[in-house]
Amino acid sequence: MKKKILGALLSVAMVATMLVGCGTNQTSAPADNAATEDKADDAASADDAAPAAEANGKKVGVAMPTQSSERWINDGANMKEQLEALGYEVDLQYAEDDVQMQVSQIENMIASGVNCLVIASIDSSALVNVEAQAKEAGIPIIAYDRLLMDTDAVSYYATFDNKGVGTAIGKYIEEKKDLANTSETYTIEFFMGSPDDNNAHMLYAGLMEVLQPYLDNGTLVCKSGRTSFDDTCILRWSQETAQQNCENYLTGFYADEDLDICATAFDGFAYGCKAALEGAGYTEANWPMITGQDAELMATKNIISGKQTMSIYKDTRLLASKCVTMVQAVLEGAEPEINDTEQYDNGKIVVPSYLCTPVAVDQDNYKEIIVDGGYYTEEQLAE
Ligand code: BGC
Repeated sequence: MKKKILGALLSVAMVATMLVGCGTNQTSAPADNAATEDKADDAASADDAAPAAEANGKKVGVAMPTQSSERWINDGANMKEQLEALGYEVDLQYAEDDVQMQVSQIENMIASGVNCLVIASIDSSALVNVEAQAKEAGIPIIAYDRLLMDTDAVSYYATFDNKGVGTAIGKYIEEKKDLANTSETYTIEFFMGSPDDNNAHMLYAGLMEVLQPYLDNGTLVCKSGRTSFDDTCILRWSQETAQQNCENYLTGFYADEDLDICATAFDGFAYGCKAALEGAGYTEANWPMITGQDAELMATKNIISGKQTMSIYKDTRLLASKCVTMVQAVLEGAEPEINDTEQYDNGKIVVPSYLCTPVAVDQDNYKEIIVDGGYYTEEQLAE
């Protein structure tokens, strides 16, 4: 509950930050940063969006998964803000990770006559029927961040390079522990995403592309033996389950030897691991490397204090702006921005996609990427 209130405050803060951050700071970041350049291009294209008058009072239903994690609150706030700025009416709903609730919310949006649906799914296989209903009613669907599987009712997909997120986490571990050259061995445990989320599978594939050779040659040692996706995935991205798993690993396998690396796929998991490690008596002296994803405010603070090592920064303002071009494409006939027409096969069709670039952030670059990028202010991070 406390978290939700924090989240609500944050969303207000994020909208305020957006107003300041979007478009104003783009040139202040160094030009040699690929992701920043990407963002600068993106800002220009968001400015090219169709003017408000063209929206004609059309209504967009935005179905988001949960408010229990900061990122989705920011995603929803950004989508609403950007669509409203173009003159669209927005019906934004959160389903609190309740699959059936999301189905009903989308049914209600269809019944209320929305002109377009933007869906970040909880369990996309549960949405196949309601998506067919939307198609029948002539309502186009854009998949937001998570691919909508097994449907031909989806027009476009806006996301981050999900395999790239896994590769970035893997490369971070590889570089910081110098896995290619070290004579040390490091213990590692894995905390992967929800099996009903395509992103989780792609992240795992990217991560293991980098780390599997080091598990094979013994540089990385997973004492629980749980390295497969099936053994390490965590339903609905539950922080509590991650904490419990970490506690179990620590008591079951790390009584005599420290855990060196928590390879987690989500900031929420990093918080769970942090709590488990504190409970098991880990201190600064033996604190492990902990990875995450989303660069949530809390995670960024934990990075600054050393309790989390890194996260993957996903600029939700940028994702929203890409998604908005897709909404405009289906409603106004504008050209959407697409940069991938191959990777995202949902079992029925290959969905034309725009992949934003994820960026690894840690103590060394958070100021440049996150603060200079206008995502969080120094004041927010100091609170
Ligand atoms: C998103 C991640 C997020 C996770 C948990 C995934 O689908 O891509 O950014 O951390 O869901 O909410």
